[in-house]
Amino acid sequence: MTLVRFLPLAVAALCIASLGFATQSLAGEAPKYTVKDGKVDKGTYNGYRRFHGTCHACHGQDAMGSSFAPALIESLKSVDYETFVKTVMEGRQVTDATGAVKAMPAFGQDPNVTKHLDDIYRYLMARADGVLVPGRPKKIPN
Ligand code: HEC
Repeated sequence: MTLVRFLPLAVAALCIASLGFATQSLAGEAPKYTVKDGKVDKGTYNGYRRFHGTCHACHGQDAMGSSFAPALIESLKSVDYETFVKTVMEGRQVTDATGAVKAMPAFGQDPNVTKHLDDIYRYLMARADGVLVPGRPKKIPN
């Protein structure tokens, strides 16, 4: 009886705990990648996949940029983790010299992005640091 009564509470507590964990990782210290002999950790590999699922349409294959959006392998040399997260979650809009509007969409409501943002960051940092060549990387075996 008591167990049954407290079960929903326990579930709710668990949900809140995991929510706290998820947001913490997005706002805390910058996530790190591992590249060894040209192979990458699971997270960085996932980041490669997620980047090419959502971001590459504008930011180019292998994050090398397009006429529409900047090369993130260059941007990430100076954009810090916090600014990166803020930009992707909230989006940004600029009007260039010709008066054309270029917009970075807000992805804060897109779980395909928010859940994997740390991994996308890992992948982009490995590219920006020049330790990861273009193309699909291989995973470090477990
Ligand atoms: C519809 C096109 C489009 C998509 C899709 C897109 N972006 Fe952008 N992004 C832009 C544009 C345009 C800018 C430049 C905005 C500006 O100059 O303020 C930009 C800027 C950025 C910046 C800031 C770069 C800098 O130099 O300050 C980051 C970081 C970024 N995008 C990350 C991402 C990530 C990560 C994804 C995938 C989840 C993504 N973008 C998807 C169009 C896009």
